[in-house]
This record gives sequence, structure tokens and C-alpha cells, in this order.
Amino acid sequence: MSLKVETINNNDSHTVSSLVKLEKNAFGPNGLSEWEIVPFIRHGLVAALKLDGKVIGSAHFLRDWTHPNHAYLFSIAIDPSYRGKGFGTRFLSDCCIILKQQGINSVELTVDATNHPAVKVYKDKLGFKTTETRIDEYGEGEDRLVMVKAL
Ligand SMILES: CC(C)(COP(=O)(O)OP(=O)(O)OC[C@H]1O[C@@H](n2cnc3c(N)ncnc32)[C@H](O)[C@@H]1OP(=O)(O)O)[C@@H](O)C(=O)NCCC(=O)NCCS
Repeated sequence: MSLKVETINNNDSHTVSSLVKLEKNAFGPNGLSEWEIVPFIRHGLVAALKLDGKVIGSAHFLRDWTHPNHAYLFSIAIDPSYRGKGFGTRFLSDCCIILKQQGINSVELTVDATNHPAVKVYKDKLGFKTTETRIDEYGEGEDRLVMVKAL
């Protein structure tokens, strides 16, 4: 079994469509489309988790405008058939190493407190700390925990 994390540097249609599929499977209509993923590839950082050459996970990061050594995890998704097997933890951990190599010293994200698998990965497995709860962050009833990890 070969498991690799790669940063995506080109927008070939095969790669982009596999990233769109992961996003839509994870977030439904709110998942990123080609129109967001391509700018993320060109101007942010997109990482893919590949198992035996197949893309089974994706993560999209922004560099913070006012704190350029700080990154924001915009989204992370693992193919539904591969969830709960440790891939998400391994993937995000490897992404943090890549970010650190690129001069990033902290990473932030927001998460729904009821998203138990995600909270488990961030808090229990990778040591993210909750810094804030934002009420109605993405609209009424869409509260989010803010979590940060120093790299
Ligand atoms: C969040 C996500 C990326 C995690 O990836 P993953 O590969 O499933 O993560 P891991 O297997 O490394 O860890 C998940 C842990 O949550 C646990 N878990 C799963 N469902 C759970 C639940 N309902 N309650 C509590 N824990 C749960 C798993 O058992 C596992 O813990 P364990 O290894 O101790 O058994 C993946 O679930 C996903 O793509 N979700 C949909 C998209 C999403 O919500 N992204 C995050 C938005 S902030």
C-alpha cells in the first residue's frame, strides 16, 4: 500500500474533478467547485492524499493576509469509503509538516461542535486548541468552534 500526500500544482481536469467529487461527497452543494478549487490551486495551497495513486483526501489552505505565517484550513475531506481508518489524522498531520516547511507557524480552522469525527481528529489526535466559539458564524444557527495549532 502506498500512501502519499502531494501538493497540487496543476489544474488538469482529471485532478480537479476528483477534488470536486471529494468536496461534494463531504459537503453536498456547499462543497467547493472547479471555480473555487482552481484559484486555491493557483493562489492557496491544495493537498491531496493518494492511496495507491487514487486521490482519497483533499485539503484546501489559505495563507492569512494580515499574518502571513498563519494558515487557515478552509476544508478537508476524506472519501466516505475510507473514513474512520486513520487517514484523516495522518493526512492533516502531514499537511502540517508541509505548511511548516513553507514557513507557516500556526494553523487555524472552524468546525461544527457536533462534527464528532472532525473534532476528534483536530482536538484529541492532533492537539488543536479551541480558542473561541463563534455564534451564527456562517448564518443563523451555524455556530462554529475556532481551533488553532502551533506548528
Ligand atoms: C473529518 C474527516 C476528514 C476525518 O477523516 P477520517 O479519515 O475519518 O479521520 P480518522 O479516521 O483519522 O479519525 C476519525 C475518528 O473519529 C471517530 N469517529 C467516527 N465517527 C464518530 C462519531 N460519530 N463520534 C465520535 N467519533 C467518531 C473515528 O472512530 C476515529 O477515531 P479512532 O481512530 O479513535 O477510531 C472525515 O470524517 C470527513 O471527510 N468528513 C466529512 C467532511 C468534514 O466534515 N470535514 C471537516 C470539516 S471541519
